[in-house]
Amino acid sequence: MDRIRIRGGNRLTGRLPISGSKNAALPLMATALLTDEPVTLTGVPRLADIRTMSALLGQHGVEIVDRSVQEPDEDRLGAVLELAAPKILSTTAPYDIVRKMRASVLVLGPLLARCGKAEVSLPGGCAIGTRPVDLHISGLEAMGAEVSIDQGYIHASVPAGRLKGARVVFPKVSVGATENLLMAAALADGETVLVNAAREPEIVDLGLCLQAMGARIEGLGTDTIHVQGVDRLSAARHPVIPDRIETGTYAMAAAIAGGDVLLQGARIDTLQAMVDILRRAGIAVTEEPDGFRVACAPGSVKGVDAMTEPYPGFPTDLQAQFMALMCTASGASMITETIFENRFMHVPELMRMGADITVHQSSVLVRGVESLTGAQVMATDLRASVSLVLAGLMARGETIVNRVYHLDRGYEELERKLSACGADIERIADDE
Ligand code: UD1
Repeated sequence: MDRIRIRGGNRLTGRLPISGSKNAALPLMATALLTDEPVTLTGVPRLADIRTMSALLGQHGVEIVDRSVQEPDEDRLGAVLELAAPKILSTTAPYDIVRKMRASVLVLGPLLARCGKAEVSLPGGCAIGTRPVDLHISGLEAMGAEVSIDQGYIHASVPAGRLKGARVVFPKVSVGATENLLMAAALADGETVLVNAAREPEIVDLGLCLQAMGARIEGLGTDTIHVQGVDRLSAARHPVIPDRIETGTYAMAAAIAGGDVLLQGARIDTLQAMVDILRRAGIAVTEEPDGFRVACAPGSVKGVDAMTEPYPGFPTDLQAQFMALMCTASGASMITETIFENRFMHVPELMRMGADITVHQSSVLVRGVESLTGAQVMATDLRASVSLVLAGLMARGETIVNRVYHLDRGYEELERKLSACGADIERIADDE
């Protein structure tokens, strides 16, 4: 298995291009199940999770063509994917694919809406918590689906033949459940109102694509979304929004390494909570015509507190990276995780690199230390893994990050992007 080797201490300077959003692209790909006409997505990041979603959709009958060669787009990274499902070949999402990626559950709503039935393997536990799918299921039941769980599979069907519009009140904000219900409601009979819906930019992006396909949706970006179901959806072409989590990760990389980096193509409006916190920590964040710039003199970061919350709050997917940044800040920082119950697996690894961290239930107290030291580290999820890369950028000596496959799930060309800005980072094959 490949590893990443980082020799810490280099400043980061220059331009770093931001890829299309993984978490936007995954539900956008699932929209192809809703129509027999092609959906074309541009700026799709080249990532392991996208390949997993392609494999899943492929066995459902979605034909996926990479049009990047015919349509090279020099301004944008990523692929141009055309997805077409003239016929649904299977309504079953098998365990072997779903276990690799929880977002596979996003095929449930579209399959039910188009075919009136679906069998989707339960995603099961994952490293960052139990992560149930009860909100997805109860929302679809409110729309007329009958759902049972048998032998690890969700078996869902629509006795009436077509899902019916309903008022769905989410007891808790869920990104995935909002996405599943939004896609299902687009083809349902009548009006669906999603109350306490997620407001993440990825939901807005999904809604815009559905609108381009002919869906009637109002209230995107607010906590109440109204959808008037239509009889059919049709072809559309849609650009995937820039990845705000990748952006935030590299913003913190620039700060941790005392650098000056232009995050090219990034959308500052999707990261306001993070930008406010970085500014309070003494980091300069300035908007530019083509993204935003993050600059910070070495050793000048101050400890500040952060609490994760649903959008527009500080994202849970940046909590680990922020903790890495706080490890060498002057003063202390209290970081509270409110979205997932078990999302501090990076803590022991950061401590092995010399960080001073105390965990108390859902909060951690980070007392800034002068510097970290390189070590062999590994993590059990994507964002925790990248937080160790960030720590390695500032650590003295060599850091080896194992289990690189986590990084490949969510960061397109991580080593190339960071080394182009001056980081000493490389991938090493296991036999080296
Ligand atoms: C998405 C993101 C993930 C991010 C998370 C929160 C994708 C592919 N993944 O995950 O990167 O960390 O949003 O911003 O977009 N919950 C329930 N019942 C449910 C569904 C969720 O209790 O049916 C709970 C979860 O356990 C969690 C919270 O709700 O505690 C939020 O989860 P949710 O917003 O659904 O996350 P995902 O959509 O899985």
